[in-house]
Amino acid sequence: MILQELTTELTRCQSLGECDDFLLFNLNEIRPIFYSETFHELQQNSRHFEYEDSFNAFANSSTGAAIRGGQKPTDSVVALLIFFLSLFEKAQLYNSILAVADLLPDGSLRCRCQAIFKYKHITDASSDYITRFDCILQFLQEAWNSSSDVVRLQCEDLLHEYAFEAVLKPSYVGCDIRQDVFQCFTDEQAQQRYPILKKLPHQSLRDLGFDGLSLALSEVRSRIIESLHIEACELVPTALFAGLSDEVIEDSVPIFQVITSLPDFLSTQLSVMNAVYSPQRQKARFNFDSDTDQNRIYLGTYFPRTVIESQNIYQELLSIPVISDSFSKKTAIRIMDIGSGTGAAVIGFVLALSKWGKCQGPVKITSIDYNIDALDKQRQILASVGKELSFELQYQPLHVPFPFDLDGFVSAFTSIAEREGSVYDVVSCWKCLCEFYNVNFAQAQGIIKNTLRLASQILKSNGFCVVADVTTKDNAFEYFPITLNRESNDHDRSLNAISRTILPVPCSRNSLTCHTHCFTQRRFKVSHQLAQNDETKIAYRVLAPLAFADLITASFTDHKAYRVNAATPTEACFDGHKSKSTASYPSGFTNLFEQGV
Ligand SMILES: C[S@@+](CC[C@H](N)C(=O)[O-])C[C@H]1O[C@@H](n2cnc3c(N)ncnc32)[C@H](O)[C@@H]1O
Repeated sequence: MILQELTTELTRCQSLGECDDFLLFNLNEIRPIFYSETFHELQQNSRHFEYEDSFNAFANSSTGAAIRGGQKPTDSVVALLIFFLSLFEKAQLYNSILAVADLLPDGSLRCRCQAIFKYKHITDASSDYITRFDCILQFLQEAWNSSSDVVRLQCEDLLHEYAFEAVLKPSYVGCDIRQDVFQCFTDEQAQQRYPILKKLPHQSLRDLGFDGLSLALSEVRSRIIESLHIEACELVPTALFAGLSDEVIEDSVPIFQVITSLPDFLSTQLSVMNAVYSPQRQKARFNFDSDTDQNRIYLGTYFPRTVIESQNIYQELLSIPVISDSFSKKTAIRIMDIGSGTGAAVIGFVLALSKWGKCQGPVKITSIDYNIDALDKQRQILASVGKELSFELQYQPLHVPFPFDLDGFVSAFTSIAEREGSVYDVVSCWKCLCEFYNVNFAQAQGIIKNTLRLASQILKSNGFCVVADVTTKDNAFEYFPITLNRESNDHDRSLNAISRTILPVPCSRNSLTCHTHCFTQRRFKVSHQLAQNDETKIAYRVLAPLAFADLITASFTDHKAYRVNAATPTEACFDGHKSKSTASYPSGFTNLFEQGV
């Protein structure tokens, strides 16, 4: 759904009840509209005003009139108002925050909204923060008094935000009011009137340098956005918490798989590095801060799985004649692997190139990751695997800690993309992006779409990009393969997209019309020295620059429908609709270029 459609639907509803029905059914698709645009995008062409127009249309609709006439907004409407609040905060449309407050019922959320308006909508930075102190504290104290423990923490974060901004913002215009702010917040009488003040870390307010305060402020802001988002989800859990997943479905149809085990030389290298097999369900959600022992567990458990996924997928891609012909003419092949870790996806790629047999080398590898220990382990593995190959490997590790929020991520990746230029034959991102959504779900919205956009910018015209990720249920809000599907479709639908989906086949045909609740999944068998008959599951998309994508997909077979999900083998995708079918349709992943289906 896009903003214009939302506005039309909201204004079409004739009553609060009708609006509630619409929201309960659609909030899940409405959420990304409010979280997946960067600050820069919101400013471009005054896009942020479209959100203001949308809100005003809603406020003036039958639903808005009913609320102003005294009817209590439903939980779904309050959840929508929280989305508007977060968006207006990000877009710095502070007057609209007050308009949101006007539609909220009396109580904690309304008070918080009013407090936010008061300390955000500053007209004179040298005085407003101090003169509005009592007014803001009254709102925050009232909200704090009437809130659950969880929301109380949010009230305390709002207090921190107010205090930190009161020191920082005036300093941007050459005004130092820190002493006055400190006095206000530590005044004994004020502390008696507003007990919430005791929750403020006064020392940080007095002693932290501007850099420290800025960092503390961005952490607090991030917590506020996530906590407001969770508050919205808890109001309408059936609409905004994850439902659908494949976790309980054990049935699956095997898809033909050429490679099922690691080569001995790789297993030997893993054992030299003391790899340990030990599946760790929870820890696997985050790997960016893994220490060397955790990375050894990764090497023995998850690394082999990624190698098998990646080698099979790249071998299938290299068996597509258009890609094979084009890659066989390259005198060097460059790959950038984002969230590369110990390098399993890269190893799968070079093993696939080796089996393919037409690589003239050298293969130049740029591996990006936050985790220095993992990048170092990758160096050791590449050095050892390189000895078994007929082409040279060149390795350039890049230590990049990508920020976990959309704006920070896009800005960091944009600098890399601008610096590198369109020089890569392959860009891959394997099991990395889910970590952003596990850390900050609301603020991560849009990261997949932007990864595809930026990866496309650094691809050569005859290159391709693979984004693969887990199909485990790691965050509470949306099953990650659905997120991957939704954002990849959004990417393909963008007017300025320079690449599009080529695999899975149904997604390449229907990404413009596909239903977002759909997801794809593929399973692989994995065997190596530490585990026999292990299984791994992923969802993935492959994209190519538009002209190359047209050449590739024109060469595909033309079946009526293709299967897309190993967990539901009786379903196939018909023109963008997944339906049950008893007929046997081919897999949507391989397009039959390999021997099996
Ligand atoms: C599950 S591992 C996947 C590693 C490898 N791609 C694979 O499939 O085996 C996720 C990787 O993403 C990296 N990562 C996660 N968040 C990151 C961030 N914010 N910046 C850079 N790297 C990050 C982690 O350090 C980790 O190496």
